[in-house]
Amino acid sequence: MTWTIRKAAVIGSGTMGGGIAALLTGVGIETVLLDIPAQGTQPGDPPRQRNAVALAGIERLRTASPTPLFDPADADKIQIGNLEDDLAQVADCDWIIEVVVERLEVKQSLMSRLAAVAQPDALISTNTSGLPIAQIAAHLDADFRRRFMGTHFFNPPRYLRLLEVIPGAETDPDLVRAFVDFAETTLGKGVVLCKDTPNFIGNRFLTLIGMQTVNAALDGGYTVEEIDALTGTLIGRPRSASFRLLDIIGIDVFYQIARNLHPAISHDPARALLEHPAANALFERMLEKGWLGSKSGQGFYKTVKHDAGERAFWSLDLNTFDYLPPRKPTFDSAARYGQIADTGARIKALFGENDRAADFLRRHLAFYLAYASQRIPEIADSLVSIDNAQKWGFSHELGPFEIWDALGVAESLPQFEALGFPAADWVSAMLDQGCASFYQRENGQVIGVYSPQVRAYRPIGGGS
Ligand SMILES: NC(=O)c1ccc[n+]([C@@H]2O[C@H](COP(=O)([O-])OP(=O)(O)OC[C@H]3O[C@@H](n4cnc5c(N)ncnc54)[C@H](O)[C@@H]3O)[C@@H](O)[C@H]2O)c1
Repeated sequence: MTWTIRKAAVIGSGTMGGGIAALLTGVGIETVLLDIPAQGTQPGDPPRQRNAVALAGIERLRTASPTPLFDPADADKIQIGNLEDDLAQVADCDWIIEVVVERLEVKQSLMSRLAAVAQPDALISTNTSGLPIAQIAAHLDADFRRRFMGTHFFNPPRYLRLLEVIPGAETDPDLVRAFVDFAETTLGKGVVLCKDTPNFIGNRFLTLIGMQTVNAALDGGYTVEEIDALTGTLIGRPRSASFRLLDIIGIDVFYQIARNLHPAISHDPARALLEHPAANALFERMLEKGWLGSKSGQGFYKTVKHDAGERAFWSLDLNTFDYLPPRKPTFDSAARYGQIADTGARIKALFGENDRAADFLRRHLAFYLAYASQRIPEIADSLVSIDNAQKWGFSHELGPFEIWDALGVAESLPQFEALGFPAADWVSAMLDQGCASFYQRENGQVIGVYSPQVRAYRPIGGGS
């Protein structure tokens, strides 16, 4: 299928819409950015007043750090407007991406309006974080649903490599293939094809790993700093680790994602992690206090300025709700193995230890890796999709199946079970077949990946 995107429309000029418009402009696509008209304005008012919402989005692009703009002049190339006066501007766009507030009824009504003005072959997509793709277009006709899909960028869109593409049941497979090719080659994205399941892949894991970590901190009496020392670079994740990451995401945003996920996954035993009374009380109390993380100046961490002008990062005591001065956590195992250069070997060494660090990491990893196995085929057919989503969306060095290979699947499986985290049955079946690892390696190179459906190794990229 020959398919190009010459002109695109981004609807919604907030955090994500602005970033996506900057990315598209940066790669040379003519881009229109529309948002709601400014409150209190009327048609015919001066464009600067009428389009103040989209204009504010452009101003944020100019000052954001790291910059979303490939070239500062790109900000002036984006054509702005509002959804009442300027909707006709989308009529000649090849791709229209909806990036408005995460409310189903708002997205549905916008889709009806786009269906009425879009050219017949335009791709129309939604950047929803987790609303069902099928529901967003359920009220529209088959022709619309044929060219509709989810395109979920991660924040910030210019910098995070992951793009989750979520075809609907009726989306034209040729269009999906053409879009994936465009996203990989023109936008430079790492595309993971997802099923239309709650929170797709990246945010499903983000929510449940995040909640498992908070629960374990509260149950085991670990401090915020201790958990971040254990879940950051030590195990191949960014320095933001766990609690710092929640501050960056926003305590309110993360907690709302968790609340939305709960009713959507009644079939998933891990849903119990979202019901932990002390963890929920912790989040509620932080919301009451307005401690929402980086955007409100304090969350699990708070920057404290000393008289000499130095800044220190104080962390929240989860019991007293006081902020404590920095205190470097000390764990024997982390001190002993922290310098091992190979991340898989380092995690394996830590996993086998006997101190508080290892107690936490064993449970954390047992949950995470067993959970990954149990989500296949529900949320993905291929193990690689789950590994790539973690690596490209959250900058983890290794995905869960890569970590599990490093631990040794046969040795760790009974340990996971003993900790209360049984793996999916296909993992034992894989071992019984004589396949000792998820990835097939030859001379140190990965040449294949185990397919639970086919029950054999398949070439990477060769489908499930
Ligand atoms: N922020 C993230 O990290 C992130 C990451 C991935 C996906 N998303 C998703 O992207 C979408 C936008 O999120 P965001 O963070 O950019 O939000 P945002 O609050 O920064 O921006 C939302 C935009 O929607 C507009 N809007 C509000 N009501 C509207 C209406 N009735 N009709 C049309 N537009 C309206 C607002 O004016 C605003 O510009 C959401 O679906 C969100 O779940 C967000």
